[in-house]
Amino acid sequence: MSGDRADAKSFLEKYTYEYKLTHGAEPRCYVHSFGCQQNVSDGEKLLGALVNVGYEPTKAYKDAQLIIFNTCAVRENAEDRVYGVIGELKHFKSEHPDCIIGICGCMAQDNQAAERIMQTYPQVDLVFGTFAYGELYSMLKSVLTEHRRLLDNEERYTDIDEEFTQLRSSTFSAFVPIMYGCNNFCSYCIVPYVRGRERSRNPASVEAEVRELVGGGYKEIFLLGQNVNSYSYGFPNLLRRLNAIEGDFRIRFMSSHPKDATSELIDTIIECDKVCKCLHLALQSGCDRVLKEMNRRYTSDEYLRIVEYARSRKADFSFSTDIIVGFPGESYEEFCETKEFIKRVGFDNIYSFVYSPRSGTKAAQMPDEISTKQKGLWLRELLLEQREVADRLMSRFVGRACRVLCDGKGKEPGVLTGKNDEGIIVQFEGEDSLIGEFVDVLITDSANWSVRGKILARL
Ligand code: SAM
Ligand code: SF4
Ligand code: F3S
Repeated sequence: MSGDRADAKSFLEKYTYEYKLTHGAEPRCYVHSFGCQQNVSDGEKLLGALVNVGYEPTKAYKDAQLIIFNTCAVRENAEDRVYGVIGELKHFKSEHPDCIIGICGCMAQDNQAAERIMQTYPQVDLVFGTFAYGELYSMLKSVLTEHRRLLDNEERYTDIDEEFTQLRSSTFSAFVPIMYGCNNFCSYCIVPYVRGRERSRNPASVEAEVRELVGGGYKEIFLLGQNVNSYSYGFPNLLRRLNAIEGDFRIRFMSSHPKDATSELIDTIIECDKVCKCLHLALQSGCDRVLKEMNRRYTSDEYLRIVEYARSRKADFSFSTDIIVGFPGESYEEFCETKEFIKRVGFDNIYSFVYSPRSGTKAAQMPDEISTKQKGLWLRELLLEQREVADRLMSRFVGRACRVLCDGKGKEPGVLTGKNDEGIIVQFEGEDSLIGEFVDVLITDSANWSVRGKILARL
């Protein structure tokens, strides 16, 4: 740790200590993350850094002396949600002028959004981008001692910090980032601009972290990266290395880019007993012209080849995907190609989004004649199609026993939910003590995108 950072750290340790002496309790901090798992993982690290200097986490922002919203910029509606939340804090800040309010993450990294927050929302004290996390202590020290507002969204080269504490919200499922950033520049996407270029963690550090998590009782290791197949030290090798760790746990990962999804990756998934037999492979569009305009660098045929290879090795290999509806210039006929394609592949799950122009990206300059309302109708059409596909596919589990990691309570009393090795949501009756445990469930029926069953045994 540099001298300045170490100074700022001891300043905060002293500050929280004195706060406790005068107030009878530690200052509380509230961190909320929007967006993808990568962001959630970053939020857990920010919380860990704050706890390390004496803050106490709270789940209610109204109790906090430090509030941080870790934001997402991937679509306009994600940003609007954040502006809404910041707006609501105006009144709170006027009643609690000493509370520090920080906005960080992908929106804060984006110049336009950061400027808007600084100019329109005086209740925000601190705006810091994804490259500034290492400066957290120094920034807080400045705000506390100089009583001025601060913006840091400089894009700087940062070494991967391996000295972090991550305060995980789950005691059984852990996010483990293996790489940061993205080099792909899909024409619609803001991520490469707000997350920088790809940087991979050393496999030894990843392995050490996973060993520690498994030793601490974690049952699910969720490897994260915007494109895990371009992990610089070889993603299949990493999977094999982690699979060799002894213990009762499973490995999942997200996301894989179709242009880099190889038969070696599929073979590895199939051959590694701890790796879940599912692949989230973002398709975005089933039309080759649109894929080209999106700069995705694969064709629908190439995509299908990966699926066919996986299914030739394991007939019900599970695929899920992301689809963008209404990319600039996309015609209804081209949208229908996507609809046909999702039927051909048979996805267990799709996450579909109406295209949202992101300023600074190439697609934001492209002419776009279809109204958002029309695109919304296409999206509904796609979801109806997918519902039929998923209904048909879910029935393949009926009569089978599945290993399920129970991850929470269902909506109905006494019902628990979890996921099987194919990533499918399974609901079953059971006691709350099963949350965080593997159970064997016999699937008895299916409904839409989930299945139901009866517990056979606690594993
Ligand atoms: N790196 C991942 C991949 O390529 O599979 C995707 C990560 S991105 C955070 C998640 C999804 O958001 C994308 O797969 C895409 O479907 C969607 N997305 C990204 N930019 C978008 C935009 N401008 N409008 C609508 N959806 C978008
Ligand atoms: Fe965005 Fe494409 Fe990178 Fe995924 S691969 S984060 S969609 S630029
Ligand atoms: Fe959003 Fe940033 Fe993730 S833009 S989806 S939080 S990488």
